[in-house]
Amino acid sequence: MRIGILNSGGDCPGLNAVIHGVVGAADKLGWEVVGFTDGFEGMLPPARYQLLDVNNTMGIQKLGGTILGTTNKGNFGAKVGAGNVMEVPHEIVNSARKTFDALNLEGLVIIGGDGTLTTALQLCNMGWPVVGVPKTIDNDLHATARTFGFDSAVTSVVDGLDRLQTTAGSHGRVIVLEVMGRHAGWIALHGGIAGGANAILIPEIPFDMDVVCEAVNQREKDGNNFSLIVVAEGALPEGGEQSFIQTEGAASSEYRLGGIGARVAAEIEKRTGKETRSVTLGHLQRGGSPTAFDRILGTWFGVEAVKLIEKKDFGKMVSYQSASVGAVPIEDAVNQLRLVDPEGEEVNAARSVGICMGK
Ligand code: F6P
Repeated sequence: MRIGILNSGGDCPGLNAVIHGVVGAADKLGWEVVGFTDGFEGMLPPARYQLLDVNNTMGIQKLGGTILGTTNKGNFGAKVGAGNVMEVPHEIVNSARKTFDALNLEGLVIIGGDGTLTTALQLCNMGWPVVGVPKTIDNDLHATARTFGFDSAVTSVVDGLDRLQTTAGSHGRVIVLEVMGRHAGWIALHGGIAGGANAILIPEIPFDMDVVCEAVNQREKDGNNFSLIVVAEGALPEGGEQSFIQTEGAASSEYRLGGIGARVAAEIEKRTGKETRSVTLGHLQRGGSPTAFDRILGTWFGVEAVKLIEKKDFGKMVSYQSASVGAVPIEDAVNQLRLVDPEGEEVNAARSVGICMGK
C-alpha cells in the first residue's frame, strides 16, 4: 500500500517530526510514503514529489521548517473568512486527483491550519481518502487543545523577553514586543506569562491605552524602572483601529505598515514620557528547531494519522485533547505513581519511529 503526505500554508516547527512519525508508522506496516513538494501544488502536473523512507527521513524530527517545502499561495488556497468559504475550483482538484490515482495512493495525510484543512474537508466531500493533522504556531485551530509549533513559538517569545528585560532594566525603558497572532492571542498570552511581561495585549481583549499607560506609571511609582509589554499582531484598541489612528491622525495604511507594536510604543512614550522601544519578533518565532514538546507532539500526531488511514477512518483530524487545569483530592496524587503505560500511545509512537523499547 502507498499513501501520500503534504503540508501546506506557513511552515511550523515540528512539521518534520510529523513527517518522521508518518514515515516510521507507515514503514512498520510495510507501506510506501510519497511526499509532495510545496503542498497541494506538488500534486498538479508536472507532479513534484519524493519517495520518503526511514533512511532519507532519519533525524529530521530535529529540524525546523519542512523538508517538503510549502507555500501559502497558489491554486489551492481555500479562501476562508467571515463565514464564507470559497471552494478550490473542481478542475484544479480533479487535476490533482489524476496524480493521486496515477501514483496508486490509498490515503493522503494533509498537514495544515484552517485554510489547508478547509481544502482537506472539500477533498473529503469529493470522496478523497484524507486525514488531517493540525498545524499552526498560533494554536488557534478549533477542536485541538494544542497544535505543534506553538510551544516552539512561545519559547522564542520567552527567550526574547528574557533578553529584553536586561536591556530595558539597564536603561530604565519600556520595551514593547510584537508577536504573531492575527486572530488569537495564545502566543502573546503564554509567552508573556512565562517571560514576565507587565502587560499583554491580545485580539480577544480590545485594549484601553490609558489602562496600559497607567500600568506603566504604576510600576514606576512602585520603584520598577522598566516595563515589558507583549502585543499580539492582531491586537487592537477599544473602538477599533480607527479610534487609535485618530490620536495621531495617521492613515489606516500607515498604521498597519508601522505595526501595532510600534504604534503602542509610540503612544506609551508620548503619554508617559518614558523612553520606549519596540521590537517585532516576526518569523524568528517560526524558524529554528522545534522544542522537545513539539517534536513529541508532531511524532505522535504523525503516528496517529497513519492509524486513522489503517482503520480507513477518513475525514478525521488528529487532535490533542487535554491541556486544562482542574482540582483533585490530594490523596489521589499520593496513593500511586503515574507510570508510563507500556501499551500506551507514547510508547507506541516511540516504537513506530523505530525506537527500541527494550522488549
Ligand atoms: O498563521 C501563522 C502566522 O505565523 C501568523 O501568526 C502570521 O500572521 C502569519 O503566519 C505570517 O505569515 P507569512 O509567513 O505569510 O508572513
